[in-house]
Amino acid sequence: MSVARDTQKQIQAAVEALRAGELVAFPTETVYGLGANASDPTAVRKIFELKGRPSDHPIIVHIDDKKHLQRWAQDLPPEAQALANAFWPGPLTLVLNRAPAVSDIVTGGQDTIAIRIPSHPIARQLLAGFGGGVAAPSANRYGHVSPTRADHVRDEFGKSIKHVLDGGDCKIGLESTIVLCTGSVPRLLRPGSITLSQLRAVVPGVITGFDPAAPRAPGDKPRHYSPKTPVTLVPGRRLVDVMREFTDEKEKVAVLSLRPPSTANRYMTWINAGGRHEAYARNLYAHLRTLDKVGAKVILIEEVPAGEQWDAVRDRLKRAASKDAPSIESDDAPLTPGQELAMLHDDVSLRSFSANP
Ligand code: TXA
Ligand code: MG
Repeated sequence: MSVARDTQKQIQAAVEALRAGELVAFPTETVYGLGANASDPTAVRKIFELKGRPSDHPIIVHIDDKKHLQRWAQDLPPEAQALANAFWPGPLTLVLNRAPAVSDIVTGGQDTIAIRIPSHPIARQLLAGFGGGVAAPSANRYGHVSPTRADHVRDEFGKSIKHVLDGGDCKIGLESTIVLCTGSVPRLLRPGSITLSQLRAVVPGVITGFDPAAPRAPGDKPRHYSPKTPVTLVPGRRLVDVMREFTDEKEKVAVLSLRPPSTANRYMTWINAGGRHEAYARNLYAHLRTLDKVGAKVILIEEVPAGEQWDAVRDRLKRAASKDAPSIESDDAPLTPGQELAMLHDDVSLRSFSANP
């Protein structure tokens, strides 16, 4: 994809905005980010204010080239180098040992720092033009569904953010794979489009699962990536029956399925997301936003197939469906190890529909 001249001008304006300490929303191949100059604590603080994000939650620093790494990270183990060489630029975030000069506001006071080199041409041009690190979480209010289109960013923040670079639909549609890489045994912290097998093809020793000593990551909270309408995961074979329990009572219900509906009535809104994992992931957040607007009592989501290609989707669906955690407005309590393990490992939905199968 080449970057049109109009966009070039907007990117230049965005570079200047970053230099002036303002926020800029920009596309990446995963989701849109809400960026600030990572070397300017006052600018980074604006991200927390606008998102309503607790101040101890660390933010990913985006750079355009590995030559900038030493400003942010130090003591990279060979495993980190290997993963960086294999997957950057791309949808991988590495959590590394932080360099001494990094501000606490970016790291949430931890001794690690998350770094990513995205591949989206607009993101790359923005980062190259800026020349430094851009701290950027997903461009949504805290706990909400991540944006995969410029319009989603505007829906989240309206006019309170002036610079929104429009790169169309994000190709991947789910947040980056995060790997903790501070020592010789890398640990997968958040599944993404780069799968565990792909990581292990580069570094065979990559592990997954809860580590009590691991840094806290808000994406690890169960209730994250959530629409406002309650979400329930339902096995495919039960989907129509469960839907009818609502529509028979004349209650509106929204459905996200892997296939077209076999029935229709005026109380249901049904989206067929298809059975291909890449397209499903790409469209998931847009579909959730659409279904969130229909005023349904519940969003029923058909459980997705087994298999690691669906791991990232399954992880986000579980979180969208989670009712265990405190509400979005409250301060998230840390997970118990059992909950964390369930989030990371369970193939069975935590919130599977509990009525009789
Ligand atoms: O694809 C993505 O990763 C997008 C795009 C914009 O790059 N960004 C994104 O950022 O999803 P955010 O803040 O929504 O999620 C980043 C996750 C959070 O769960 C955060 O806690 C975790 O990365 N994280 C950041 N720094 C960390 C650190 N030092 N240690 C552990 N986790 C960290
Ligand atoms: Mg986020």
